[in-house]
Amino acid sequence: MAEKKLRIGFIGTGGIAHDHIRAYLRRMAKYNDVEIVAGCDIIPGKADDFFREFSVDNVRTYVSHEDMLDAEKLDAVSVCTYNRQHAAPTIASLRHGCHVILEKPFAVTLEECVDMMRAEKESGKILTIGFQPRFDRNMQQIKKIVEAGELGRVYYIQTGGGRRSGIPAKRDKTSFIREDTAGIGALGDIGCYSLDMVLNAIGYPAPLTVTGFTTDYFGKNPDSYWPPRYSKPEYLARTFGVDDFAGGLVRLEGGVILDFRISWAMHMDTAGDTLILGTKAGLRIPSTDCWNGSVGGPMTLYRECAGQSVETVLPILKDAPGDGDLWDRKIGSFIRAIREGGPAPVPSSQIIKNQAIIDGIVRSSKLGREVEIHIPEV
Ligand SMILES: NC(=O)c1ccc[n+]([C@@H]2O[C@H](COP(=O)([O-])OP(=O)(O)OC[C@H]3O[C@@H](n4cnc5c(N)ncnc54)[C@H](O)[C@@H]3O)[C@@H](O)[C@H]2O)c1
Repeated sequence: MAEKKLRIGFIGTGGIAHDHIRAYLRRMAKYNDVEIVAGCDIIPGKADDFFREFSVDNVRTYVSHEDMLDAEKLDAVSVCTYNRQHAAPTIASLRHGCHVILEKPFAVTLEECVDMMRAEKESGKILTIGFQPRFDRNMQQIKKIVEAGELGRVYYIQTGGGRRSGIPAKRDKTSFIREDTAGIGALGDIGCYSLDMVLNAIGYPAPLTVTGFTTDYFGKNPDSYWPPRYSKPEYLARTFGVDDFAGGLVRLEGGVILDFRISWAMHMDTAGDTLILGTKAGLRIPSTDCWNGSVGGPMTLYRECAGQSVETVLPILKDAPGDGDLWDRKIGSFIRAIREGGPAPVPSSQIIKNQAIIDGIVRSSKLGREVEIHIPEV
């Protein structure tokens, strides 16, 4: 007998919700196993415009996620709100018995993540976090290389990167740069991806201490916002309330040192390659915008072979026909996990460690010293 279609709702219908709905619509066309039944956005009319744009009819719209969750019998929701509004809608959805796919970063603070994980545990529902590069074959290859023991014992990682000039702000869209909506800047927009790339590869050891820093020299400077790319530079500089550059030196369980930096703006072309050093070999992942979904070019393995230093360049892996894009795989993995009763494809138990590093960087930067990281039991 055909399985019941999963009833999907949207919380937040801004930029990234567009990628979610496109993936659900492709899924509906291919498998017909989900239906989009409702959506909400706190801006009146925005959810209606969103569904109209995709010609999705017969949906009910709301301005409050609580009203939507009370009125609808949803199986699952896409939480596509800005960072400061990740926790409340996620907790409410889980308490209403919905499975949740939540956009990255997990949240702004560690405490919010703990609260969400408690709601997840109490509900028994799936909570997965939206890191679509996880579904890229080349990114997966990094983990396979580590797990196959090719690097030996990993003891040092340099990662991060970022943009020379790329503060994501427009006059009519400032949700990424405002303290009250984003809470964190480059750290949460792109830094969490770099952290996930390497932490996932080495099995997500717990972070123990961090010496971190954040700066905002560019974001708060009107001269950083050149037209025609930006308009109203004074307004954007005044509105800017997050980090545009950040980093930290993190001690991880198992004696691994993680050296991380991330940039939305800097006077430099690159913040460097990702390097994973092990006792048997080292892996160089070319300076990568991994948040765009993959590695920045062929990776190189450095090792000794019978007393000779050798380098092996790993060819880029191509997608197989029928793989779909990263969004098909991200939404597909969520639907599959619901159907099969778990586990969550990108579990909160991992991503809380990612968030703990970000949280530690912010705290350390404020205090001007190293801080210890304690992740509460859930
Ligand atoms: N995975 C990716 O590739 C990717 C890319 C971009 C953004 N993101 C993440 O997606 C999130 C949203 O980014 P965006 O670009 O869509 O932002 P956005 O500002 O365009 O959209 C967020 C929407 O949420 C709405 N909203 C806020 N609180 C709400 C609530 N409680 N209930 C209902 N609606 C609410 C806002 O009104 C807004 O329309 C961010 O956390 C961001 O980090 C992920």
